Amino acid sequence: MFSKDGKHKDVKTPRICDVVWHDGEFINWNDARVHVMSHVLHYGSSIFEGIRCYSTKQGPAIFRLREHIQRFLNSAKIYRMDHPWTLDQLCDASVDLVKRSEMDQCYIRPILFRSLDEEHPAFGVNPFPNPLACYIGAWDWGKYLGDEAIEQGVDVCVSTWNRLTANSMPAMAKSGANYMNSQLIKMEALLNGFAEGIALDDRGYVSEGSGENIFLVTGDIVLTPPLSSSILPGITRDSVIQICEELGITVKERTIQRAALYVADELFFSGTAAEITPIRSVDRITVGQGGRGPITEKIQKRFFEITKGERPAPGNWLTYTNKANTSSPSDGKSFSTAALESETAAIIVKSA
Ligand SMILES: Cc1ncc(COP(=O)(O)O)c(C=O)c1O
Repeated sequence: MFSKDGKHKDVKTPRICDVVWHDGEFINWNDARVHVMSHVLHYGSSIFEGIRCYSTKQGPAIFRLREHIQRFLNSAKIYRMDHPWTLDQLCDASVDLVKRSEMDQCYIRPILFRSLDEEHPAFGVNPFPNPLACYIGAWDWGKYLGDEAIEQGVDVCVSTWNRLTANSMPAMAKSGANYMNSQLIKMEALLNGFAEGIALDDRGYVSEGSGENIFLVTGDIVLTPPLSSSILPGITRDSVIQICEELGITVKERTIQRAALYVADELFFSGTAAEITPIRSVDRITVGQGGRGPITEKIQKRFFEITKGERPAPGNWLTYTNKANTSSPSDGKSFSTAALESETAAIIVKSA
């Protein structure tokens, strides 16, 4: 699965959309460039999203578009990025991009960052003098943790790197800079022969993977760390919570000790890129029976049925790009509040 030194493993990218949305218009992929002295390159001043568009019988369908764009706007707000874009405009731009891409499935990447005003350049840490630039690109992306991972699960380790603390780099913002921490976790895992690393928070409780939230199954109960464990409020995580509610599976937010990972019946990651990926070992300790457990399989099956448009979602989760009306409000169940602590609901409920 990995090259010997772990360095060459990456997700397959069969196709890239040849246009990019930039500040309200479409430009060629080759023209989507920045100056090397841009603020973002030196000081990490970007926020972004990762959104999947699935192939369905009714055409391409973007998964939870409005919730992703709402999180994008939240991240921009946290970092005082005063841009002109609205939720509807960015949703429409994403839909237009998918249409122009002519791909029936893809991964959509909106990004907002501090650029460089070449006529009045500013090079200090102070971000305010630097203009903002907003782009949305798209590409076809394979299975993030490997093709077999969805069924067989992945071998992971607990990282020696801790997740960010809430008062240093807010994990609830999806900022580019946070992914320096993710890179430390990911590189350590790969170089030690693991597919992914799980970071603990600064208190030593389980936080999340470098690019995924984590769920633990014990008996017939599903547990996941709360926002206070320095996690990104994952949209797939929220989807899993709502799917569990539909399936009658009890799901709770709980602080989780590292050792609980070893004795769990099942573990799985959730994320836009990773989707629902079972974890079969942690630190070379086999989890449960060492493969995809029955509860994980049930949740995963339901998730893929929904993303393929084969089964109605608990909310208005799919935006069909052929008949998109992105501004139509969802049915108010966009984000689950029942199983969540209020702090989680607070960040995501806006888009309902
Ligand atoms: C650090 C981190 N945690 C969790 C997630 C999962 O979030 P989502 O399900 O919204 O993709 C991601 C992926 O975006 C991530 O990068």
